Amino acid sequence: MTTTNWIKLEIPSDTRNVAFARTAVALFASQLDWTLDELEDIKVAVSEAVSNSVIHGYELQDGLVKIEVSYEGPELRVVVEDYGRGIEHVEQAQEIGYTRLPEERMGLGFTFMHEYMDEVLVSSQIDQGTKVVMIKRVQASES
Ligand SMILES: Nc1ncnc2c1ncn2[C@@H]1O[C@H](COP(=O)(O)OP(=O)(O)OP(=O)(O)O)[C@@H](O)[C@H]1O
Ligand SMILES: [Mg+2]
Repeated sequence: MTTTNWIKLEIPSDTRNVAFARTAVALFASQLDWTLDELEDIKVAVSEAVSNSVIHGYELQDGLVKIEVSYEGPELRVVVEDYGRGIEHVEQAQEIGYTRLPEERMGLGFTFMHEYMDEVLVSSQIDQGTKVVMIKRVQASES
């Protein structure tokens, strides 16, 4: 059996699809040998990235969110991409508690992604969109 596999999803930007994306990615990711806690971590990180595209990228208007998930051996890679408004200051956006909507939101989405995934890489261009690449590795099993 090969040790690589991938899926690509395209979903309309809609808050209803956040739960779908989270579950679909977790179902695919479960081909690897995670603990239940690790699978929960992946779900949270995916939810945060996809909801950011819906809420901030497209400001709850129509748009396309692309999700690619793949693994090579023990390394899972999740890419969430939108073609929305983009992020002006990518570093600042990832600071704990930073949000453009302080009345409504906590500014913790990126913090969770960094906490729960091994690597998080954010690239963005104003009015072009945002791409979040997240990597998580299966830990060598203890025996
Ligand atoms: N896909 C995106 N497109 C445009 N801006 C984004 C995107 N993702 C994040 N941002 C910007 O980065 C900020 C921080 O994101 P983060 O997810 O950490 O917090 P939040 O979404 O504001 O609050 P929370 O996730 O706690 O509900 C957002 O407020 C927004 O300004
Ligand atoms: Mg967020």
